[in-house]
Amino acid sequence: MSHPTYKAVIPAAGLGTRFLPATKAMPKEMLPVVDKPAIQYVVEEAVDAGIRDVLIIVGRNKASIGNHFDSVPELESALSTKGDHTKLGKVAHSSQLADIHLTRQGEPKGLGHAVLRAKRHVGDNAFVVMLGDDLIDERDPLLPAMLAVHERTGASVIALMEVAPENVHLYGIATVTETGDDDVVKVDGLVEKPRAEDAPSRLAIIGRYVLTPDVFEVLERTTPGKGGEIQLTDALQELAADADGPGVYGLIFRGRRYDTGDRVDYIKAIVQLAVDREDLGPDLRTWIKELASGL
Ligand code: G1P
Repeated sequence: MSHPTYKAVIPAAGLGTRFLPATKAMPKEMLPVVDKPAIQYVVEEAVDAGIRDVLIIVGRNKASIGNHFDSVPELESALSTKGDHTKLGKVAHSSQLADIHLTRQGEPKGLGHAVLRAKRHVGDNAFVVMLGDDLIDERDPLLPAMLAVHERTGASVIALMEVAPENVHLYGIATVTETGDDDVVKVDGLVEKPRAEDAPSRLAIIGRYVLTPDVFEVLERTTPGKGGEIQLTDALQELAADADGPGVYGLIFRGRRYDTGDRVDYIKAIVQLAVDREDLGPDLRTWIKELASGL
């Protein structure tokens, strides 16, 4: 399926404080997950869904993100001289993936503020927002199904996943009604990072959104919410509550998702992805068994 008209927006301006000092001079989106920076998985996911135009919203230390998606002629010619075509292919791949655009967030005022920075680039079209902390396994594609729900309803669509009660305070949480389609729900309300005792459900927004362009106008007047930041969740709550609009739909994701947002989850993501790889899996599995037997 090809969606040439959709653009993807990847906010990558967070401070990454949970990974200091690794993120002192490097954005957390560039941390390697096995042997690729996290953001490359996200760009590849967009490309797999037929999206060719990717806008990355960057903060400080943006240079490495831009460089990663640029070609590096001296490295490529050195690998070519050596006849190392495997590595050459890997180096060239990231610079040929998509049309990558960068824009600055300026001040880190929250996810809603970062998304608003995409307004001029996106124009009056529906678009996709992808958060780099959430990696979706390429074997379980999510975006094509979300785009199909958007095309059917004309509404914004968020990806939802059930999380444990002790984790609801880390996510935007949705109140929903069923639609008759197992995986598709109508979103009645959203609240950003509620306390477990206040959470209306355990259905969490995972970092994939298909947004209609009217979200920009809402974001322009959204005041700081949770944590003093302009929250995308608050703008979506307004769209969900607007009886005159198409509302917001949720797609329940039942596939494999890897959270790289904190250190333990990041390590788990690397191990899970590496054990599934043909080149690394066999050795790693043997070692993990040995390690586990000694624990
Ligand atoms: C953001 C959103 C939150 C969402 C989460 C998904 O929070 O604000 O609603 O559930 O991403 O990863 P963050 O993790 O950036 O604090």
